[in-house]
Amino acid sequence: GFEMCGIVGAVGDLGSETGLVSGLVEGLRVLEYRGYDSAGVAVEVDGALATCCRAGRLVNLEESLAAGRLVPLGAAGDGGGDAIGGASGDAAGAAAGIGHTRWATYGPPTDGNAHPHVDSARSVAVVHNGIIENYAALRGELEAVGVRLASDTDTEVLAHMVGRRLGAGSTLLDAVCETLREARGYYAVAFVAPGASGRIVCARKGPPLALTSWQAAGGRGAGAYLASDVLGLLPHGCEIVYLEDGDVAVLEAGRAEVYGLDGQPRERVPRLVEWEAEDADLGNWPHYMLKEIHEQPDVLAKTTFERIREEVGDAVFEGNQWSDESLAGIERVQVIACGTALHAGIIGAYMVEELARVPVDVDFASEFRYRDPVLVPGTLALAVSQSGETADTLAALRLAQELGARGGAICNVVGSTLVREVEEVILTHAGPEIGVASTKAFTAQVAAAFLLALRLGRARGALASKTARELLSELRELRPCMERLLSGGLLEEIRATAARYGNSKGFLFLGRGVNYPVALEGALKLKEIAYVHAEGYPAGEMKHGPIALVEPGMTILAINSPGHVAAKVRSNIEQVKARGGEVISVGADAASHAIADAVLAVPECPELLSPLLNVLPLQLFAYEVARLKGCDIDKPRNLAKSVTVE
Ligand code: M6R
Repeated sequence: GFEMCGIVGAVGDLGSETGLVSGLVEGLRVLEYRGYDSAGVAVEVDGALATCCRAGRLVNLEESLAAGRLVPLGAAGDGGGDAIGGASGDAAGAAAGIGHTRWATYGPPTDGNAHPHVDSARSVAVVHNGIIENYAALRGELEAVGVRLASDTDTEVLAHMVGRRLGAGSTLLDAVCETLREARGYYAVAFVAPGASGRIVCARKGPPLALTSWQAAGGRGAGAYLASDVLGLLPHGCEIVYLEDGDVAVLEAGRAEVYGLDGQPRERVPRLVEWEAEDADLGNWPHYMLKEIHEQPDVLAKTTFERIREEVGDAVFEGNQWSDESLAGIERVQVIACGTALHAGIIGAYMVEELARVPVDVDFASEFRYRDPVLVPGTLALAVSQSGETADTLAALRLAQELGARGGAICNVVGSTLVREVEEVILTHAGPEIGVASTKAFTAQVAAAFLLALRLGRARGALASKTARELLSELRELRPCMERLLSGGLLEEIRATAARYGNSKGFLFLGRGVNYPVALEGALKLKEIAYVHAEGYPAGEMKHGPIALVEPGMTILAINSPGHVAAKVRSNIEQVKARGGEVISVGADAASHAIADAVLAVPECPELLSPLLNVLPLQLFAYEVARLKGCDIDKPRNLAKSVTVE
């Protein structure tokens, strides 16, 4: 089956405290937020492979390792040797290793389907994120020459194909290159083979892969580390090489060489990553989601304050991007994104139309890429993405670029595929987001979209400097506002409201104008972490259908801020109440609060900026309902942080 996973690999010395196996497990712990159906490691010890794979969370793998289940594999047909590893599960003398955490899309998450996979001769092990599209044909060819495959996965064929070439005398690099030239599909893969002692070969086509290497220094020996997510690399180094499609790399202690699939060397310059390993630390918070919700005032500031030029009522971006000249030809904006990033993008659309008077279309990336879209000349395709690796978003953006659009992005990850493929980018400075439910990345995306809308409005002469100045000073005010909200009585209100309404038979989130996407986001948060049915709807559209759902036991969250549609939303609240629904009024509209059954109030700010405040109680409401229900908040079932396959 194809899957979406985290992979790591290590060679050499990871530091005096950390053995190689625990270094791999540490890396998997950092990546586990990306997929958590099974986990496994394979290491080279004393010239042979030893593996351990377990279905379920990483903790299962750790327990198995601690119980000494890292088992050396004997030659084919042999039952294997004695277990190795002490209480930490660490194998002394391990020279190189790879690890995997899996998010299964099909093929059940069993021990047998867990990576790493090995070939029949136990000469090579592989971990893989992606899909080998022609695996059935490759499997047939292997079976025709008598190879017996042990799992249902597409990945295992790669182990056998490489293993057979190693058996015929190829080097690991050549065997991997030749194999991948025969494989069709997408992959981030890493191979470890005792015959190529102390080396890992990895490759990328599609899903991301990055690496770092270091020389011996300060008591630590030389080493190298690879990971499918830069967060996994941060404990080891901050000079990071991002592999590009078609790259193959050989890692040894102290060095990493990059080649093409043709075996020719390629130059890849390391980039400095500014995130600190501590940024991804849970600290004393019970959940990453709560920690990240509370980071939002700072995230707003980091994403916007240094770019604000309040004196002139404008925004300035690094490297003179989004300048008057570069924005001059833009006649239309096409927003493409998925999930929460899409909701931020819809808010951005309201902002761009209002401040810059440029028409905006918004589409789900997964729809855009298959609907044969028509783009007018002068289109800016604006992809919004936390990770910059979402497969649908990347594919939609590439299509838009093929159709002649300029590519732009709002993205949180430096060096991500998305950032590398667009002409201009606004980096959101949200820091690493670990909770699968996106919170602070959303706030950063909305703030970035606001700056872009304002910049576009100024560049096109559609926005007066005075208006822009006022908006920017209001934006600055939001930070203390958010801080007060997140430390004040609202938290108690939210807890009480979640306790009172958490067991409702259903939830309807209503909002209008710029708060309509906020309603979508509130409903998505509740669905994904609390597993309750919730629907986000434009308030004015309720009477065309969903109102039939309203009856006692149904909870409606009405998001409303003073502004040109506030009175309309109030009448929607009345309509719900008249039919026995209970209404929680969210926002700053006092008149809505007055007619509601419960209130989650936020301070008033300009309507266009109100999503930045209104989303906070919705995130916290979902968090509290999920907590009361005992859900696994940071790793909700069935989800993965970054959806790198279609
Ligand atoms: O990394 P991206 O921003 O491109 O991810 C997009 C969506 O997959 C993501 O927002 C998803 O909807 C989250 N689970 C929402 O909380």
